[in-house]
This record gives sequence, C-alpha cells and structure tokens, in this order.
Amino acid sequence: MATTGFHVAVVGATGAVGQQMIRTLEERNFPIRKLTLLSSSRSAGTVQKFRNEEVVVKEAKPESFENVDIALFSAGGNISKLFAPEAVKRGAIVIDNTSAYRMDPEVPLVVPEVNEEDLKLHNGIIANPNCSTIQMVVALEPIRQAFGLKKVIVSTYQAVSGAGAAAIEELKNQTRSIIENEGFKPKILPVKGDEKHYQIAFNAVPQIDKFVENGYTFEEMKMINETKKIMHMPDLKVAATCVRLPVETGHSESVYLEIEKEGIDVESIRTLLSSADGIVLQDNPKEQLYPMPAHAVGKNDVFVGRIRKDLDEDKGFHMWVVSDNLLKGAAWNSVQIAESLVKLELVK
Ligand SMILES: NC(=O)c1ccc[n+]([C@@H]2O[C@H](COP(=O)([O-])OP(=O)(O)OC[C@H]3O[C@@H](n4cnc5c(N)ncnc54)[C@H](OP(=O)(O)O)[C@@H]3O)[C@@H](O)[C@H]2O)c1
Repeated sequence: MATTGFHVAVVGATGAVGQQMIRTLEERNFPIRKLTLLSSSRSAGTVQKFRNEEVVVKEAKPESFENVDIALFSAGGNISKLFAPEAVKRGAIVIDNTSAYRMDPEVPLVVPEVNEEDLKLHNGIIANPNCSTIQMVVALEPIRQAFGLKKVIVSTYQAVSGAGAAAIEELKNQTRSIIENEGFKPKILPVKGDEKHYQIAFNAVPQIDKFVENGYTFEEMKMINETKKIMHMPDLKVAATCVRLPVETGHSESVYLEIEKEGIDVESIRTLLSSADGIVLQDNPKEQLYPMPAHAVGKNDVFVGRIRKDLDEDKGFHMWVVSDNLLKGAAWNSVQIAESLVKLELVK
C-alpha cells in the first residue's frame, strides 16, 4: 500500500456493491494509504485482493473506524444507522449507499454530474442516491439546464443485482432449474426477508422494495423524492413504475419528459446529450443503435438512446436510459463522490 493518501474503509466489502467498490478504487487509482474492509461476522477472515496485496476482511465494529478518512458504506440501512455516526464521531467522512440518510435535510444527496456543489454542505455523511435515480438524473440534468423541465414519467426495467449477491444466485439457480425441468422455491425476490416470493427467471415482477400506503413501492417513491432533492426541484412532477426483470446487471429505463421551452427538436436533445458529462449517446435507429444492459455492464457511463418527440405533446420527449447499476448506480458514483471531495479539498 502507498505511504501517502487516505485511509479508506469499505463497509459491506463482500457484497455485490462492495466488491465493485474495491475494483473501482483500484481502477481509478484512488489515493489510498490504508484499506480497511468490513463485513458481518459471516465473512470476517476472508481475504480480498487489492493492488496485488491481500486484505483480510474484518467484522465491522465502532472501533473499526479509528483513523479512517473516508468510509464507503453498502451493508444495508440498519448497518449505516448503527455505524455511520460512529465513523463520523471518529473523524471519517461517510459516503452511504443505503437509503438510511438520503432524505435527511442535513445530508447532501449527490450525483457529481448534477449537484457536486452540495458536497460543500456536508456534516460528515453524504448519501449516494438510489441506482435507478442516479442514471435518470444524469440524463435529465443537461436537458433541464438547456430547456427547463416540467414533468417526468419513468418505467424501469431493473436487474436482479440491484437486490444483492443472493438475488443474482437466485436468478441463475431458477434459470437452470427451469431449463432442466427441476422444481424450485423462490426465496429472495421481490423483497428479501418477506413472506411471499415470486419466480424471477423468465418473468417480470412489478414490485421492487415494499409497498407504501399510497400504492407505490418504496423504490418508486425513492425515484420520485430523490430526483426532486438532487435536482433542487421540489415542484417537479415525477411518477415512476419500477419492474424487476431477469437481467443480471444493468438497469434500463423508459423516460418520458416534458420541457419548458417550445419548438425544440430531437436533434437539439441529441446534440446536448452527446457532449454531456458521464453520458454516451447511442441513438441511431437506421443502424439499430441503442443502449442495452448487456453492453453497459462494466462501464461507468450512462447510455442514452431511442430519443423521440412525443406525437401529441410539442414539449414531450421519450428516451431510453441504461447504466450498470453496480457502477454508476452505486460503486462508481460513491468513488466519484470521494474523488470530488479530494478535488474540492473537503477531505484532508
Ligand atoms: N445492488 C445495487 O445495485 C445497489 C445500488 C445502490 C445501493 N445499494 C445498497 O447497498 C447495500 C448493499 O447492497 P448489496 O447489493 O451489495 O447487498 P449484498 O450483496 O447482500 O451485500 C451485503 C453486504 O453487507 C454486509 N453485511 C451484512 N450484515 C452486516 C453487518 N451486520 N455488519 C457489517 N456488514 C454487514 C455483508 O457481509 P457478509 O458477507 O458478512 O454477509 C455484505 O458484504 C444495500 O443497502 C442496498 O440497498 C445496492
């Protein structure tokens, strides 16, 4: 490990997101002098490779955060509630991937392409938004800046890795069982720990997270509330329907948006998005060029295509937005926040 740089901790290091965090820190060559990897007692003692060195995973405890500069959390909301204040108390800046603090008015909710400046307002904890929200706001922000934004209606087509490593195993096992004509019992999806579970292989499940009293799911409410907070648009009209598909990694979204400005054509939106930060435009119907999750896996960008003008509403547009939910939706956005903290000299 280097002698200069930061002491970074990853909480949930053995999970679907945690594993990507370790890989991303390595790929980005983030300045690290010490890496602390934390999990529950179940995975404590396992070994992870980082920059050709072996790091032993330890059980997360309050003392684990002594001398930590930056702590990346992705071990579930309860673990963040338990340990994030302990980490902050010991001087660390927490970047939290769970929903524990996202809507706390004291906690900035940050997607660097959209609201990097909000980092300056942090009080120790910074929240990383929900994966489906992140990729959508990256695509919406340049349009908002150029033409204004009035309304968003999104339907998602979300991968199982969004529900963790156990959900990926469940999809693989069910697919194998169905092909081999064997019986199986769904155990994880749609919501881990719930009583009722449904088949995900060869299926589409219109429930991600639990239901709220208003008939929406928490995932849908996260997209609605987080979008307004990140974009600083409390009055933006947002509606969401979130669906889980038998895709391993990579969330897709059909986004309908209405802008403020009249007379804007598709080409203007394409031109805008083709040079926007964090976006790769893949939009050529003649060549059947459009984003797909299988092509987005392993990449940090948000891919946008299928941009069309609504046939009835002059200010309405449709687009298809795809990204790797474990990277831009989680690990990359978190590491990007850490890079922004260094750039803005908010971490010493
Ligand atoms: N997957 C996504 O696309 C995504 C995107 C954004 C945010 N998130 C959020 O990130 C969190 C983790 O998601 P995931 O998909 O990586 O889940 P996961 O694959 O199930 O991994 C969970 C991780 O948390 C650790 N953990 C569990 N209990 C713990 C405890 N008591 N103390 C310390 N560590 C503990 C696990 O360690 P063990 O190996 O010891 O069990 C494992 O490393 C969730 O809150 C999720 O909502 C996920």
